[in-house]
Parts: sequence; structure tokens; C-alpha cells
Amino acid sequence: MKKYLIALMMVLAPVTASAAGGAGVPLDEMNVDLTNKASLQRGMAAFVNNCMGCHSAQYQRFERAATDLEMPNELVVENLIFDSNKKVGDQMTIAMPKEDAQNWFGNPPPDLTLEARLRGPDWVYTYLRSFYKDEARPWGVNNVVFPDVGMPNVLEQLQGTVVNHCTPEEMHAGGHEKVDPLTGVRMGGCMSVEPESGSMSEDEFDRYVYDLVNFMAYMAEPSKMVSGKIGTYVLIFLAILFVFAFALKKEYWKDVH
Ligand code: HEC
Repeated sequence: MKKYLIALMMVLAPVTASAAGGAGVPLDEMNVDLTNKASLQRGMAAFVNNCMGCHSAQYQRFERAATDLEMPNELVVENLIFDSNKKVGDQMTIAMPKEDAQNWFGNPPPDLTLEARLRGPDWVYTYLRSFYKDEARPWGVNNVVFPDVGMPNVLEQLQGTVVNHCTPEEMHAGGHEKVDPLTGVRMGGCMSVEPESGSMSEDEFDRYVYDLVNFMAYMAEPSKMVSGKIGTYVLIFLAILFVFAFALKKEYWKDVH
């Protein structure tokens, strides 16, 4: 019995490990929904507008995204491609040279095509909502799940300025996930947004980041969308096949008693 228990624990170990952030901080969960095309479209717009100044998504083409997310190519060209030299069939690359980026940021911004698969959507979702004010850092911000990060808080105008009241130990104890029972403010244990400092409410901002990460999850595994559809067809096919197989079985066994 003990042996089975140990085996079970070893099987489950990677599952439990992935639920914590790099810094050992609990992550906020998000459920990726690849059937929500409106969310994916908003997410792509958010990604192109906020992230592609620094990050490429070089394994993705605009056109593939347009097709998968059911957007007409003309709309994508008009609204989501800012480089006039680019065509809809091009990859989502950017013009910033790697060497310059290395000099400016210390670490170059990595390509984000596969990021949601690398770190997991929960991590990216928590990361983008976990920047906080820290004057000691070059960009004036630090991050709960990515301590001493080299990226500025590019969504600060939307979210507002976040102040962290906890020590690192308190954060690791899960302060990040607390909700203030009086105000209902999320991350209330450690973080609070300075009033009037951002253009969105907390809920609006969470939804904005949800759409963005939903898109990144799609981008990391575009074939998942197709395999989900194929899975449905296969099940329908099996259901129809069952009817015929059952009829055939009846026919064969008719004379056997
Ligand atoms: C001003 C440039 C800049 C912009 C704009 C920017 N980033 Fe970054 N990002 C960086 C840099 C630089 C790093 C590397 C940080 C490090 O390694 O310390 C980074 C790192 C990251 C990472 C962590 C990568 C890893 O796994 O190590 C993620 C995820 C990320 N960015 C997502 C985004 C998203 C999503 C957006 C758009 C909302 C965005 N970034 C916009 C500069 C930028």
C-alpha cells in the first residue's frame, strides 16, 4: 500500500509544483477559453498594442491568427499591423535589434510566441497583474512572481500604481491572494492600487489581462483550437458508428440461442 502511495505522490508532484510561481508565490488561476473568439480578438489587440513594441511573436503569422480568430484580413491590416512594410502573411516580428534591447533592459525581451506554454497561463496572468512600485529598481517597479524583473510595468496606465505593503516573507505566505473583506479589493493582503491612478477598475483590468493571456495561450498552441473541433467530430462519428455496429451485432446474434 505504501508503495502505491509513494508512486501516486510522485505522479502528482509535478502538478502541485506548477501551481506556484517562480518566487514560490501562489498564482491566480485563469481558465483559458479558446472558444471565446471575442476575448481572443480583444487579447490580440491588447498584445499588438502593448507588447509588440519590445516583444516579437515570430512563430505566429498575422494571417493565421486572423483566420483562427475569425477576423477579416482587411481589418487586421488596418487595425493591428502598425508597420506599413508588413503584409498580413508576415510573421509577428518587431524591428528592435536584440543588441540594443540587451543594452537598454539588461535582459532582452524574449519572443513571446510560446511563453504561455513555457510558464503556463496562470503564471503570465499573475505576472502581468503583479507589478508594484519599487523606487530601488531601474524602472521604478518590481514584480511579485518575477523578482527584480527587467521589464517596465507597461500596463500601469490602465491598472494604476500598485503599492506593496508586505515583506517578501509575507508575500510567500500567500498574502498575494487575500481579499480585503471590507473593500473587496483583490490582492488586498499585500497590494493596493492608489486611487484614481489607473484608467480601469480592478475587474476591468483583470478582464483585460485575461483576454491578453487567453490570446497568448492560443498563440502558444494554435493547433489546440483545431484539435478541439476534431475531437467533437470524432465523437459524433463514433456515436453514429455505434448505431450501425449495434445493428450488425444484433443481426449476427439473431440466430444464436
Ligand atoms: C518596454 C519594453 C517591453 C514591453 C512594451 C513589454 N515587455 Fe515584457 N519584457 C521586457 C523585458 C526587457 C523583459 C525581460 C525581463 C527580464 O528578463 O528581467 C520582459 C519579460 C517579459 C516576460 C517574462 C519572460 C520570461 O519568461 O522570462 C513576459 C511574460 C512578458 N515580458 C510579457 C509581456 C507582455 C504580455 C507585454 C505586453 C502587455 C510586454 N511584456 C510588454 C520588456 C517589455
